[in-house]
Amino acid sequence: MIISVDEFLKGKIAAEAFAPGRVNLLGEHTDYNDGFVMPIATPQRTYVALGYSENDMCHAYSATLDQTISFKHKGDLPGGFASYLEGCMRMMDEAGVAVPPIDIYINSDVPMGAGLSSSAALEVAMLRALRSLLNAGIDDVELAKMAQQAEVKFAKVKSGLMDQMASSVGDMEHILFLDIRTLERRLLPLPPNTELIVINSGIPRNLSASKYNERRQECEEAARLLGVSSLRDAPGLDAIEKLPDPFRKRARHVFTENERVKEASAGVTAERFGHLMNASHFSLRDDFEVSIIPLDVLTDLMREHVDVYGARLTGAGFGGACVALCRKGQAKLVSEWALTEYNNTGQHGRILLPQPVAPL
Ligand code: GLA
Repeated sequence: MIISVDEFLKGKIAAEAFAPGRVNLLGEHTDYNDGFVMPIATPQRTYVALGYSENDMCHAYSATLDQTISFKHKGDLPGGFASYLEGCMRMMDEAGVAVPPIDIYINSDVPMGAGLSSSAALEVAMLRALRSLLNAGIDDVELAKMAQQAEVKFAKVKSGLMDQMASSVGDMEHILFLDIRTLERRLLPLPPNTELIVINSGIPRNLSASKYNERRQECEEAARLLGVSSLRDAPGLDAIEKLPDPFRKRARHVFTENERVKEASAGVTAERFGHLMNASHFSLRDDFEVSIIPLDVLTDLMREHVDVYGARLTGAGFGGACVALCRKGQAKLVSEWALTEYNNTGQHGRILLPQPVAPL
């Protein structure tokens, strides 16, 4: 039986925090190339509550998984969801804030493996709770960087900074335009009279098992061949076209994707934004080669609808969710229609936005 927070922490909550997941609207696989991204925070979020441990061990309970893991802080790295927690605790230590033995309660309605960045939501919620418990003077950008480092160092995924920044400084009402190199950021409105649809394809993806790290290396090699420190500085399509494959295709995706984000961030119509989303999907499918057939089927379906301006996979690819920009007021009907059509192809998709169930 699922344990409540009061039961687990024996009524003694010393600190608590929430953090959202994110849906990326444009700018995929650009963050680790020093580029530009446009995510938005999800209404789905992760809750972390902390209490002081009664012994020298940390005890972590996930109500989502109904699983408890006990571990010693700075001992052997624990497995499963606790690796993210211990990663965050070690980052706090590295920042000069000593973490005592604690008990950690987690609950979340950010779906795992759906490309909504449940790991960033967990890291940011955990670090927010630790910041409040330990009165640490860490700002939201620093906190996002610590969350990313926890992921890179302890969960062994060389992810970029987008997800943690979206979770830490983004909100549900605005698109977060972010220049990853300078960390210049702006909160932008959705195109006029639009709303979002997000559907989980039902195909789970696991970042470390995916080709994510391989794509990252290919981008580094493409940058090296172009003589620049990162693909952000690629001189242009003429030079890119001369590269051997797969570096030509990888670099072409990153270059055109950055151009799309820059154009969209300047403010465009719903039609143009949708067109840029479609182009992003085709580039991820053909040049970056991170789409899979169910994601192509789902986005094609959504694109067919007269009230949809554009659709694309969101997140790293290889599974997870798709996002569509829809005429305001139509998202519920259109998402239900698209889900039925998609599931008729033998899949088990789920609507994530508009949020079908009451929030956590
Ligand atoms: C994952 C990573 C992000 C980003 C996306 C792809 O979500 O965590 O840093 O690279 O993939 O855009």
